[in-house]
Amino acid sequence: MRITILCENTAGPLSGTLGEHGFSALLETDGGSLLFDTGQGETLLPNARRMNRNLHEVRTVALSHGHYDHAGGLWPLLRTSGGKEIHAHPEVFRSRYRVKDTGEPLSIGMPYQREFLEGLGARFVLNRDWREIMPGIFLTGEVTRRNRFERGDSGLFCDTAGCCSDTHPDDQSLVILTDKGLILVLGCCHAGIVNTLEHARELSGVEDVHAVIGGMHLGFCAEEQIDETVKALRRFSIRKLVGSHCTGFAAAARLAREFPGSFQPGQVGFTLEV
Ligand SMILES: [Fe+2]
Ligand SMILES: [Fe+2]
Repeated sequence: MRITILCENTAGPLSGTLGEHGFSALLETDGGSLLFDTGQGETLLPNARRMNRNLHEVRTVALSHGHYDHAGGLWPLLRTSGGKEIHAHPEVFRSRYRVKDTGEPLSIGMPYQREFLEGLGARFVLNRDWREIMPGIFLTGEVTRRNRFERGDSGLFCDTAGCCSDTHPDDQSLVILTDKGLILVLGCCHAGIVNTLEHARELSGVEDVHAVIGGMHLGFCAEEQIDETVKALRRFSIRKLVGSHCTGFAAAARLAREFPGSFQPGQVGFTLEV
């Protein structure tokens, strides 16, 4: 199996690839290819082409949640490489906003109507539960919030006035069972990386975590949450901790210092073969 980051905030050393605020990872397995998230839509196709990855072979797409920087690539993907089965949570189409300190709302939700995507061949499978979407590959479904310190991003709302906090019930991660242990692929991980790891361990029945790859959303939270996350992560003995997207520069630097030998940045072109 091979995992490749196709979209991420930063282009890696492979010349000719592009960065954009967002995330997408391609899983190629003996049982077929799966795309987890699609970035904002500007870099998915050119980066896949540059890395010789064929998106026509992708029959299954999974969305981590309904933010534009993860779902925006659906239109270019469907337009150029045909219909796909798309696994997501029922709340993936809800309206969502970042409300700035000035009170100005920015729409950050799914940039397309469901009917528009279905007209391009999307077949949505919406479900709140833990489930196997390809052999040995699971979606967490709604992640139980177990701890007090993963409070989420306080600037995100379901309304333009900034009254109704967005709790991101649709946030989910991919969990892959391998003979080396679990591999988790995160979108933004609004549910919290520790909550998500505990959820994945409990529902898979596997304790050992080989790798965690993706957005850890620590760039938007309080210092206290980073402290507690570092403490909690020590308990998991993760061999590869690959921070992308919304992990944030300062939090990534901290994780690199706290987990030397395990942590590395996951940029466009990062590949893990298992
Ligand atoms: Fe994101
Ligand atoms: Fe997000």
